[in-house]
Amino acid sequence: MRKKIIAGNWKMNKLPNEAINFIDKLAPLVKDTENEVVLCVPYIDLFYSLLSAQGTNIKIGAQNMHFEENGAYTGEIAPNMLKAIGVEYVIIGHSERRQYFNETDASVNKKVKAAFANDLKPIVCVGETLQEREAGKTEEIITQQIALALEGLMPEQVQNTVIAYEPIWAIGTGKTATSEDANNAIKAIRDKICQIYGQNVSKSVIIQYGGSVKSTNCQELFTMTDIDGGLIGGASLDPEEFAKIVNYDK
Ligand code: PGA
Repeated sequence: MRKKIIAGNWKMNKLPNEAINFIDKLAPLVKDTENEVVLCVPYIDLFYSLLSAQGTNIKIGAQNMHFEENGAYTGEIAPNMLKAIGVEYVIIGHSERRQYFNETDASVNKKVKAAFANDLKPIVCVGETLQEREAGKTEEIITQQIALALEGLMPEQVQNTVIAYEPIWAIGTGKTATSEDANNAIKAIRDKICQIYGQNVSKSVIIQYGGSVKSTNCQELFTMTDIDGGLIGGASLDPEEFAKIVNYDK
């Protein structure tokens, strides 16, 4: 059985002291879960969050990184820097990075490879726009995105990649994909991975849903056959709400 990963994506929210308070509140609320709990926090909060999460079952992730390990890239953070302070996960290719910071399938692919080279677990995001969905192109778009993102990886690496299917029109809008639509899209991603990397990999790869997940809709989504948890934006900013999502199966 695949485990569920419930990951918060704080985006550009919370100062270090707020991160510390959040983790102090969250830790006792999620200590008994069997689901993997991850918080992807702003760079500046990483170190404080790692210290606060010590001795808890909360894992810490970054929201982005560069693919090079050093060099003249003013303002960037390298994968080995994240690893050096104890970060475990890193979100790669979030639609906001693609939309506002010109990330492409090619740069996403480089970052996924750099994550593995530095022993970080990538959470790779794919998803279609509303226009693409309405044109009936959802499966074509997301399977192409995933094939390009994972191009050149070894099957064991694909097996250890976390994929987040996040329809762009559902992010931060309050609109959620129906659980059937989300499950079908995730199935299409799994089938594509089966085609390229075989059944063992496709059966064990963790694929989350993201886009307006909250405590009131998470159970329906996370109990679908192919949905292995979620990537949660807005609803991950409140510890009680996020804990309810983590504990959806309690
Ligand atoms: P949302 O964001 O839950 O606020 O829709 C999800 C995401 O962008 O990862």
